[in-house]
Amino acid sequence: MYDTLHKAERKYFSHQFESVRHARDFASETLRAWDRLDIAEDIRLCLSELASNALTHADGPGRGFMVRLAADPAGIRLEVHDAGAGQPNTSRPNDEATSGRGLMIVEELADDWGVEKRKPFGKIVWSYFKSVTQGVSVSVAAA
Ligand SMILES: Nc1ncnc2c1ncn2[C@@H]1O[C@H](COP(=O)(O)OP(=O)(O)OP(=O)(O)O)[C@@H](O)[C@H]1O
Ligand SMILES: [Mg+2]
Repeated sequence: MYDTLHKAERKYFSHQFESVRHARDFASETLRAWDRLDIAEDIRLCLSELASNALTHADGPGRGFMVRLAADPAGIRLEVHDAGAGQPNTSRPNDEATSGRGLMIVEELADDWGVEKRKPFGKIVWSYFKSVTQGVSVSVAAA
């Protein structure tokens, strides 16, 4: 059933508003090709937030961002790479604040997430989503 358990795809997106939608489409196409639509909606939503953050908050050369999706037997790792120096900040917004909730969505939907240094500069904001059909696929594969 899953002959594509270890796969990765990456794509660069330029610094423009439409790139968030194009990145979501890239995720949909990739996850469909991998037969992982079970967790596609959560991944697409988190990607919207992380890509918007890269566009809005990251400085650095080009100011575009790169999306990488990687599948392993247990789930999917989503990465958004940008060249900016600033860091994601998870301090809670107050009730009146109209921004500052994107990373709360990621925290809620992803099974885990974090930030790593990117070489030579910038950062990788990653999130991990366990496959909800993992148990089924493993038992089918073992049968
Ligand atoms: N890729 C990034 N580069 C630099 N700073 C970031 C990045 N992502 C997030 N941040 C910082 O972390 C803060 C919190 O991000 P978060 O997505 O939660 O809120 P927001 O983008 O300010 O508002 P919202 O997502 O609700 O529109 C941002 O305001 C910004 O200061
Ligand atoms: Mg945001």
